[in-house]
Amino acid sequence: MSRAGIVLVGLGETALTAHLPALLRHPAVRVAGLVDPIDRRRVLAQERVRAPAFGDVTPFLDDPSVDGFILATPPWVTPALLDRLVRSGRCVLTGQVLATTSRAARPLSALPTEFRSRVQTGLAYRHDPALAVLRDWITRGKLGESLLVRVHVYGELRDRADPKHTERIEAALVHGMPVLHEGSHVFDWLSYLFDGGPRTVEDTWAFPTRSGLAQPNVCGARLVYPKGTVVLAEFGWLASAFPHAELSVVGDRGHARLDTGSFVLDLITADGAERVEFEPDHRTRCFDLQLERFVELITGVRAEPTPDLADGLAALALSERIANLARGLMG
Ligand SMILES: NC(=O)c1ccc[n+]([C@@H]2O[C@H](COP(=O)([O-])OP(=O)(O)OC[C@H]3O[C@@H](n4cnc5c(N)ncnc54)[C@H](O)[C@@H]3O)[C@@H](O)[C@H]2O)c1
Repeated sequence: MSRAGIVLVGLGETALTAHLPALLRHPAVRVAGLVDPIDRRRVLAQERVRAPAFGDVTPFLDDPSVDGFILATPPWVTPALLDRLVRSGRCVLTGQVLATTSRAARPLSALPTEFRSRVQTGLAYRHDPALAVLRDWITRGKLGESLLVRVHVYGELRDRADPKHTERIEAALVHGMPVLHEGSHVFDWLSYLFDGGPRTVEDTWAFPTRSGLAQPNVCGARLVYPKGTVVLAEFGWLASAFPHAELSVVGDRGHARLDTGSFVLDLITADGAERVEFEPDHRTRCFDLQLERFVELITGVRAEPTPDLADGLAALALSERIANLARGLMG
């Protein structure tokens, strides 16, 4: 069978450091095109792969050699692009944040089923096998019945040596607090681990660690999931140093700890300690597995996308709800 022709749209950090290497590693994929309005980004991508590049997706819409699109665009431009691309009849892999608000994502919710079934949401880290192991421990009661989850996702440090990075993250902050960007991943993991979303959002908070920021850069929430599982979630960007980022589950029988940077998983119970590690590194394996599932969707091996549009919209709605509640509390 001929290789699947995929166009990469949005040639920023994620595209060049994660999507493009995964595309080049996959034996059944051909990079059919590159799109970014910024000339420099197209040049950088073309240094890595020989493929036609344009500032807009239009030339690829009627190209019969294109089987799918990967969108690595900012969430504020994704909804309109996604709507346009999926209506061209191709499969689309999106970024993990579909939009900056559920309102902006509304046209996606209204997509007819035939189009929705071609959209895979880019919640890349859902594919990590460590998460399946943790889910198995939870489901089999290895940690106990009543569980407390602490999930701390801190990152995007303010690095004096990298002012461009700070500028990019401060610009993202204009469009939403860290929970809006990082929460999509976290709430997707939690709904996978606990078979559904939270029953209640008990409380929320937010504060800026410095003045002059567009929005608070640290925020959190306390949620109750099915079976009474309590989740304490914290998100933060743009300080010079932060606590370690991890997801830990504590119960009567033990403690499991997932390092959310490496996805190394540790378990401590009365029977002893156990460590679970997978190869290659977390980001590489997740983007490879994500792409593999996307190729299966394109070729018809997989009937339904995983995660699907509904998963992405649910994660966005919860992240947005927490951001809005936290902002309200600030007065
Ligand atoms: N799946 C993941 O784990 C993961 C991780 C990080 C980021 N992301 C997602 O990837 C996306 C990009 O993030 P990033 O950090 O690479 O951002 P970035 O700002 O580095 O890159 C975005 C690129 O999109 C381009 N762009 C803007 N409008 C466009 C348009 N209309 N058509 C084509 N290109 C356009 C920009 O010029 C820029 O080069 C976001 O949706 C982000 O949420 C996903």
